[in-house]
Amino acid sequence: MSGPPFAFAASPAPVEGNDGMVVTAQHLASRIGVDVLRDGGNAVDAAVAVGYALAVVYPTAGNLGGGGFMTIRLADGTSTFLDFRERAPKAATRDMYLDAAGEPVPGASTDTYLAIGVPGSVAGFEMAREKYGTLGRDRLIAPAIALARDGFVLEPGDIASFTDGNDMLAKDPAASRIFLKDGEPLSLGARLVQSDLAGSLQAISDRGADAFYQGEIADLIVKASEANGGILAKSDFEDYAVRELEPVACNYRGYDIVSSPPPSSGGLVICEILNVLEGYPISYLGYGSAETTRLMVEAMRHAFVDRNTALGDPDFVENPVEKLTSKAYAEEIRARIDPYRAGVSEELTPASAAESRETTHYSIIDKDGNAVAVTYTLNGSFGTGKVAEGTGILLNNEMDDFTSKPGVPNLYGLVQGEANAIEPGKSPLSSMSPTIVSRDGKPFMVIGSPGGSRIITITLSAIMNVIDHGMDISEAIDAPRIHHQWLPDRVYMEPYALSPDTLRILAGMGYTVGIDPDWTIWGEAAGILVGGRDLREIEAGTGTARYYGAIDSRATAGAAIGY
Ligand code: DON
Repeated sequence: MSGPPFAFAASPAPVEGNDGMVVTAQHLASRIGVDVLRDGGNAVDAAVAVGYALAVVYPTAGNLGGGGFMTIRLADGTSTFLDFRERAPKAATRDMYLDAAGEPVPGASTDTYLAIGVPGSVAGFEMAREKYGTLGRDRLIAPAIALARDGFVLEPGDIASFTDGNDMLAKDPAASRIFLKDGEPLSLGARLVQSDLAGSLQAISDRGADAFYQGEIADLIVKASEANGGILAKSDFEDYAVRELEPVACNYRGYDIVSSPPPSSGGLVICEILNVLEGYPISYLGYGSAETTRLMVEAMRHAFVDRNTALGDPDFVENPVEKLTSKAYAEEIRARIDPYRAGVSEELTPASAAESRETTHYSIIDKDGNAVAVTYTLNGSFGTGKVAEGTGILLNNEMDDFTSKPGVPNLYGLVQGEANAIEPGKSPLSSMSPTIVSRDGKPFMVIGSPGGSRIITITLSAIMNVIDHGMDISEAIDAPRIHHQWLPDRVYMEPYALSPDTLRILAGMGYTVGIDPDWTIWGEAAGILVGGRDLREIEAGTGTARYYGAIDSRATAGAAIGY
């Protein structure tokens, strides 16, 4: 038998397709993406249409008022990265979330108008469409407009995505009028109509990104911000610019990986961890074994200390990209891993130095093999939960991803430093990791997930599960996960991720392992595998379809749709 041994994770079979595959967290959006592909659009066209559609049908994370990243790998083998993440307003200051005593004001960076970064999603989609798409703006936005204007019927998965947000949305008059009925949560079977959002989308369809950044939408958001103690100014919107960047690239056991560069930490951290793990026979050691787990944990510990201390917006800090992706640095880290005892996070600390969360990831591939991975977000579920009157647009709380105060954990428990301090015009450091893997010049896998700091380890695990453990894309995404992020110095696990015997071995080595009660749902990965159901089929050339897609079984409303 060639390739790694089979792992028998119990998961639904992947969805098959020969001409295209769209995997998103909401089934109506997946359908819209497939329709674009069927109409002759390419993967970027589909990604743009899905981006606008999710802003309507998945308001917990899909957005016009947030930001994100798009990793594109074209059929000719070239790849690029669009950074449309939020930027800090010009009036932002380093200590804006601290009180007179220098302590963080609870909720200031998450629940107030001060939490809002200048949104990038519309600029990102429009740049993607203009540079890499083939269809017109009206064609790509029309399905979203129809869903906002006519509404859509809420199914159980949609209702579930509102559960965490209802209380917060109820506090904002504009949000409450849209997302609640007479102050009560929307019920199963209700139709969610978003007329103001339809108007905003129509304006963007008619006049492009200018309608958002130069025109009436920016005016309405600035007005709401000024009325509610915020600092957003019209010039923040006028000056917003998407950055087109080189993706971070590395090679793991012969597979070429492109993923998110700074201002995301995702690609660098994934590459650093994979480079370390490449030195060990992970496939032989097996999924979920004590040895595989501790090697993953130690690699994560080292990579997250680098993440949390060294990385930031590339226009403001010098990111050690070369070092963190180098095989020599991985070798250094391996040499520091004690084979018998758990590492100690505090010893790695450089000398100088629970609430609901939602983001969404989608993966698309077209008939020509163009692949697109998008992760975008409002940060927390429904962001700030605030809608600027008249726009229907939910506003992000991305500013919380900055270091409010060195050493104080953020929403995701990340303890960060100076490189990620708040500065005007700067993007906060992200963990979002839209990733595309190729082999021998051909697309192999498209993957990513929401999950705050866990995005990195979720994406990493899915890649390892396919390459090292031989799982199909559905098993690779569904398999229970572990996570370590340097601080707090604990190994987090999903239920059933590790057997009692394994836990005893790890405890004996000094690891603290446990289920994190604050994280009941670990992301919603969306993935595509090309050429076979799993590595064995791909290598043997016995795949019956070209594309295999899977949405995380943890997701409640999503769908992989192929054609
Ligand atoms: O950019 C980041 O890393 C975070 N704002 C992502 C937030 C997130 O994934 C929340 N979802 N579960």
